[in-house]
Amino acid sequence: MSNEPQTPIRRFVEDYRRLRFAEGYASSDPAFARQLPFRDTTGRNVAAWRLRALHYVVMRTGLALLPAVDRVLDVGAGNGWLARRLAHRYSVTALDVDATDAGLGAIDDPRIGRVRGDLEALPVRDGTFDVVIAAAALHYAVNLSQALAEMARALRPGGVLVIADSPFYSDALARHRAWRRTLGYYEEAGAAHLARRYQGLTRAELDGPALFRFITLSPGYEPLRAALARLRGRETGPRLPVIFGWKR
Ligand SMILES: C[S@@+](CC[C@H](N)C(=O)[O-])C[C@H]1O[C@@H](n2cnc3c(N)ncnc32)[C@H](O)[C@@H]1O
Repeated sequence: MSNEPQTPIRRFVEDYRRLRFAEGYASSDPAFARQLPFRDTTGRNVAAWRLRALHYVVMRTGLALLPAVDRVLDVGAGNGWLARRLAHRYSVTALDVDATDAGLGAIDDPRIGRVRGDLEALPVRDGTFDVVIAAAALHYAVNLSQALAEMARALRPGGVLVIADSPFYSDALARHRAWRRTLGYYEEAGAAHLARRYQGLTRAELDGPALFRFITLSPGYEPLRAALARLRGRETGPRLPVIFGWKR
């Protein structure tokens, strides 16, 4: 592992790790990462992981249909649960700014390459990977265009970017309202600065730089619940889609 992160990333990592443990999204039990996404051994976020397990199946099915995939980069890999599952079939590198026990430090599988680095400044050569996956990670980019450009650079011609489980909003206003709620949550947790590295996405922003041709494989939300919320005049909340993007 290389690229010692500087503040404020270091501060992000410290406080983010603390919150992940408090929220039950990190655990010192080695079985936790091994059993995800199908079983949440903390029992704290069972519904969230149920949805993520469904998205994982969608992702794996999509990946299996792609020709000539071997080298996969998992950005914002966290404890590496996804990298571990993918390593049965692909050559996987897990990248994260967090090398603690909530991040890359939890990965003990020798098949997985571990790189400490920033998804907005990938420490990898051009065209190294067939697939880049950002699972629940892209919304931590401070500069989305920069992150997308870096992922495109890391991919070979015709390579595919997979985005999963990042919150997408219908427009910038809905995204901003949600961000205010996130800020309130982080303020209460004594780590308001975390909100500076967390922003929901809109589809328009993703398409803007025209680096990828995207298709949505799974809408990532329960259509019935969303329709009911609309009928009641309530906000529908974010979608967490699975999106595949072919490098142009
Ligand atoms: C919600 S977790 C997702 C972890 C894992 N991919 C999963 O699917 O459960 C977000 C991860 O993104 C990492 N992260 C946040 N900002 C990052 C950045 N700029 N570069 C690389 N990783 C980042 C965090 O450290 C964390 O591990």
